[in-house]
Amino acid sequence: MKRFTFNDYYNNEVQLAFENHPFSKLPKHVWVICTYNNQWLLTLHPRRGIEFPGGKVEKGETAKEAAIREVFEETGASVDDIHYVAQYRVNGKAGMIIKNVYFANIKKLEKQDSYFETEGPVILERLPDNIKQQRTFSFMMKDDVLVKSLHFIKEQGLLT
Ligand code: GTP
Repeated sequence: MKRFTFNDYYNNEVQLAFENHPFSKLPKHVWVICTYNNQWLLTLHPRRGIEFPGGKVEKGETAKEAAIREVFEETGASVDDIHYVAQYRVNGKAGMIIKNVYFANIKKLEKQDSYFETEGPVILERLPDNIKQQRTFSFMMKDDVLVKSLHFIKEQGLLT
């Protein structure tokens, strides 16, 4: 199957696999690549910068439920169509994290009073080619997880 190993922005090793939960059936992190009206829907994290929404799975929640909740909290978007894409494992200095990647095509986006730990939604017509050089973008957007996941999403015909 399709597995990749590369280093992230901080030089930690990442393993990414386009398989059904290859590293853990119960991952503790989720990340959701979102589109809205044929544009990209992201969030502005106050320290990390612009990134697709995501976060940690809470007690009593499935990873998919966490993905839907995080998208709503960080952007105000209601998810009604979500696809599992891949899973990745990062060997960081502080230990290992395992994250599911999803794709969601958003139809409803409503302004909120609060976006939890973020500054709320960011809508972009296109993602710049040189994200790695752009300080406004989060480190999460600067490795092959994004590039390869976008490739997969396009290949699967999920982008309408
Ligand atoms: P907060 O509680 O949100 O502040 O999280 P934290 O600082 O405890 O970090 P978290 O548990 O989310 O992640 C721990 C470390 O794993 C981070 O410092 C990163 O090095 C790494 N990490 C987390 N998410 C990603 C990711 O999506 N991609 C990459 N490459 N590394 C990640």
